[in-house]
Amino acid sequence: MDVTLRRARTEDVPAVETLLRARELPLDGLVEHLENFWVAEADGKAVGTGGLEVHGRLGLLRSLAVDADKSGAGIGSRLTWQLLEEAVGLGLREVFLLTTSASDYFPRFGFVRLNRRDVPADIQASALFQACPRAATAMRWSPTASGLYEPPSVI
Ligand SMILES: CC(C)(COP(=O)(O)OP(=O)(O)OC[C@H]1O[C@@H](n2cnc3c(N)ncnc32)[C@H](O)[C@@H]1OP(=O)(O)O)[C@@H](O)C(=O)NCCC(=O)NCCS
Repeated sequence: MDVTLRRARTEDVPAVETLLRARELPLDGLVEHLENFWVAEADGKAVGTGGLEVHGRLGLLRSLAVDADKSGAGIGSRLTWQLLEEAVGLGLREVFLLTTSASDYFPRFGFVRLNRRDVPADIQASALFQACPRAATAMRWSPTASGLYEPPSVI
């Protein structure tokens, strides 16, 4: 399967929403933050997506979703590394995320769990953060502290 990553465009919004709905992820704030969304495309079809919200010097990795039929092929990993590279390029100090079902997925990228109340206020104030279930696990990543920032050679 030949998968390419590219920046999302306005016309991708319906396909991105379909991917998010299929994975029961919130749509809140998607359009406002589309600028830093990416799409994984195979045979002209969006098979994965992921985005980065920028709040000052902090980031919120969000909406990582891969078509269930294409799961396990490394698409989620490629999208995650792309978003983390983008965060580094933007000079972000830390990247946060919330997840209800993938807290065991993100440590491989250097994310560590933290108490939701310890997430900075600017991130907590985001529409996405507010929309996520209270039970979601909060995680944090930093390019320097994690010591794990080594994008794989596929990027
Ligand atoms: C999490 C998700 C993005 C992973 O994408 P993917 O392309 O299937 O994953 P990759 O191919 O990059 O990685 C596969 C590996 O991750 C593991 N993995 C996949 N989903 C996982 C999850 N939810 N929890 C823990 N591990 C997971 C697989 O077991 C596999 O492990 P291995 O490398 O040891 O064999 C995808 O399963 C998904 O869309 N999940 C629903 C939405 C979600 O939870 N998003 C995260 C919050 S924003």
